[in-house]
Parts: sequence; C-alpha cells; structure tokens
Amino acid sequence: MSEIDYDSNKTFAAAVERSKKIEEDIAVNPTKYRVLTGDRPTGRLHIGHYFGSLQNRVRLSKMGVPTMILIADYQVLTDHDAFQEISQNTKQLVIDYLSAGIEPSENVIIYPHSYVPECNQLMLPFLTLVSNAELSRNPTVKEEIQSAGLKNVNAGMYTYPIHQACDILFCKGNVVPVGKDQLPHLELTRTIARRFNEKFCKDRDPVFPMPQALLSKTPSILGLDGSQKMSKSRGNAIFLSATEDETAALIKKAKTDADRNITYDPVNRPEVANILMLISLCTKEAPEAIAQRIGDGGGGMLKKMLTEALNEELRPLRQKRAELEKNPDYIRQVLLDGSERARAIAVKTLSEVREAMNMVI
Ligand code: TRP
Repeated sequence: MSEIDYDSNKTFAAAVERSKKIEEDIAVNPTKYRVLTGDRPTGRLHIGHYFGSLQNRVRLSKMGVPTMILIADYQVLTDHDAFQEISQNTKQLVIDYLSAGIEPSENVIIYPHSYVPECNQLMLPFLTLVSNAELSRNPTVKEEIQSAGLKNVNAGMYTYPIHQACDILFCKGNVVPVGKDQLPHLELTRTIARRFNEKFCKDRDPVFPMPQALLSKTPSILGLDGSQKMSKSRGNAIFLSATEDETAALIKKAKTDADRNITYDPVNRPEVANILMLISLCTKEAPEAIAQRIGDGGGGMLKKMLTEALNEELRPLRQKRAELEKNPDYIRQVLLDGSERARAIAVKTLSEVREAMNMVI
C-alpha cells in the first residue's frame, strides 16, 4: 500500500484547489454534500472560533447543506488529564453554537461522539488499515505532543486521527470545514476511505466517499498578545460568553506597537493588523480604510474602535446566550435528539461495513 503523504505544501495546495471547487458547487447543489465538523469540549468558544469557523457553519447550514456538528468528547482524553468538566463543557459548546445562529433541525445535527457507539465501532476495522509508522509521522499529532509537553504519550493520542476518520466517515461526510492544522487528519481519512473501498468493496459499490476539506476564507486570528494563535490556554482570547466590560478590559491590554500612526501592514505590524482585521470582520469595512480613518489616533483609538465594534457585533449573540443558559433542559434535549439522529445514520453505515467485510452470519 502506498504511504500517506503528509507533505503540508502539497496537501495544502491540493486542499485549497478542491476547497474552491466545492465552494462553487455547494451553492448550486447543496444537498449533494454533507458537512461534518466539530470541536473538542475543552472550554468555551472565543472570537477566533466565531469568525474562523462558526460563521461558516451557520452559512453552510442556512444554504441547505445537511450539517453534522460533533462534540469530540472522547478526544479530550488524549491530551487532558482533567475529565471532570467534559459534560459541562459539552453543554457550553452547544450554547455557543446555538447563540451564534446554528439551528438544530432534521438537517442540522449536534451530538457528542461518545453517544454514537456504532460510529465508534468503526475504529476496529479502521485500525487495521493504517500502519504504526503512518500514525507516528502525523505532523499535527507530533506538534500537539510537543506543545503540551507530554512525557507519557498514550496510544489514544496516536490513534485519535483514526477516530476522527470514524467521525467523518460514519455519516459519509464529504465536506469537512477545518483549519490547516487538521489537513493531515483529512489526508488520513481519505486514505482510510480509499483503502477500505479497495480492499472490501471490489464486488460492490464503494461504501465511503472521499471527504474534502473546506478551508476557511477568514485569515487566522492572532491572540491579543500578538502570539500566533488565539487560545484559551494562552490567556489571549475573548470568549463569546465574556461581558462587554470584560471584553473592553481584555482589549485594553492587547499588544500594539510604538508607532502612533495606524497603518494596515500584516507583515511588519502583525498586532495592529490583527486588531484592524477584527474590526473589519465586525463592520465589513476594509482594514486599510479603517486604518486611514484612525490615522494618528494611535493604539488607544484603535482599541476603542475594536471594543465598540465587537461588543456591538456580539450583543445579540450574548443576549441569546444568556437566555439559553437559563434553559439547561433544552440544551440537553438538543444533544439527545442529535445523538438519536446520528445513531440512526451510524447503524446503517456500520451494517454496510460489516456486510462488506463478510462478517454477517
Ligand atoms: N480534531 C478536531 C480538533 O481538535 C476535533 C474533531 C474531532 C474533528 N473529530 C473531528 C474536526 C471530525 C472535524 C471533523 O479540533
């Protein structure tokens, strides 16, 4: 069998190409696609998630594309010792999703993957389609091990990308909106789909489609401290659940630079450019034009504009959030309904898989 090619340049260029084509086609044929995407329940979502992926999910689901949003609760165990908060975080994620505009329906399904045993059972055959060497070469897994400073790496850490393939393939998901860091997992998923079809479906229709990544068009959002990524663990994020005052206080501390004249220069002034871009994402005005208006107003004015724009953008979401917080039974029901729907799909796929593998007695 030919080895998985994780080469990020090649994979990235190909994914960008495919991504563009899908974007065009999806507008015309929304029901040809099934979107599957998800998050680990490790904490609340922040504005990086909001602009980078939540808005995109809302857009796709409103276009009529069947959409599965999975909460990857098992995956939390791969690099976190703490599990006490998984249930709480799962419900908070749902509150974030719904307040951002995702509307659960027959076509929009939200569920934790631990609630779908038939999806998880795909793990057993899939484990046999990938080599140890391929798993240990996965660049995203390597990066995660390194940045978490893990000493004793559990086998779940090496194998969760296979589990992610189960997440995607159990519902025959063919479009996976993700960031660049997830492309190795997508490549692995495609490989598993191909190997399964080649090995077990010689005399029948292939069971699995070839899923494609859909890359976000929003440039990646830096942390407020100017570091590469906005993330909870770095303390540089604005949560959707933050109050207006908390938002203002966080932005006040944001890093800028010594030049009072504000210009949009992502290469030489990444922190200032990041703030301009965030304003632009809220107001839809071009970042260059915003910079020009601020001119010599300096970092103070820049931050004031972001505070106002962001609090205004998030106001309806935060109102909805506060209402949903008061209704935990509803949140739980969304998850149970979603799990039931996901399970019906998983039962069907697992039975096709077992038939293809000649395991039906
Ligand atoms: N690995 C993803 C993350 O860390 C979460 C995830 C699990 C996922 N299964 C998935 C994302 C399937 C997309 C598709 O954020």
